[in-house]
Amino acid sequence: MSNVHLVDHPLVQHKLTLMRRKDASTNSFRRLLNEISMLMAYEVTRDMPMQDIEVETPLETMQAKVIDGKKLVLVSILRAGTGILDGMLTVVPGARVGHIGLYRDPKTLTAVEYYFKMPGEMENRDVIVVDPMLATGNSAVAAVERLKELNPKSIKFVCLLTCPEGVVTMQKAHPDVPIYTAAIDRELNSHGYILPGLGDAGDRIFGTK
Ligand code: URA
Repeated sequence: MSNVHLVDHPLVQHKLTLMRRKDASTNSFRRLLNEISMLMAYEVTRDMPMQDIEVETPLETMQAKVIDGKKLVLVSILRAGTGILDGMLTVVPGARVGHIGLYRDPKTLTAVEYYFKMPGEMENRDVIVVDPMLATGNSAVAAVERLKELNPKSIKFVCLLTCPEGVVTMQKAHPDVPIYTAAIDRELNSHGYILPGLGDAGDRIFGTK
């Protein structure tokens, strides 16, 4: 699986295991996702372009590094993407935010768009799409397809968990988009859920079940 970055840092793996437990409360599930998202942000922004600027310290003037270019865009796939967005914004507070509303048709499992709102000048921006579960891959493929219409400089995809089916679907459609994930689980079931997985991420983040 090329272009897949498995974030196997012990802190990420430990927190993910705690999230998988079916008796994890909504509060702790959300907090853990928030913490993992900060750590994932660290990995996915590792190659951000830098530039030198002049800075006056109390002692002398120096050339120091800052992030170069237009502000990054974090694109959340609603609604579960919000769970990752919050943690990432803690680490990259200046990022712009876009939202894509997609729901899964329960019969066909295909993605249907109901909302799309992005910042301006997307052609000058790097984009990180976030959604906790890359399952069938249909939502991710549709989201990236839609974003490519705006011609951003680059697109990366960050999830918490995926499975072989999701990775294959995404990579067939968008081989140029790297996937960052904390785990690749065994398989997808016939209802489009990842096994062993962690259940419905949206319901667990928002306590809706
Ligand atoms: N979405 C989820 O929330 N969980 C899965 O297992 C698959 C898709």
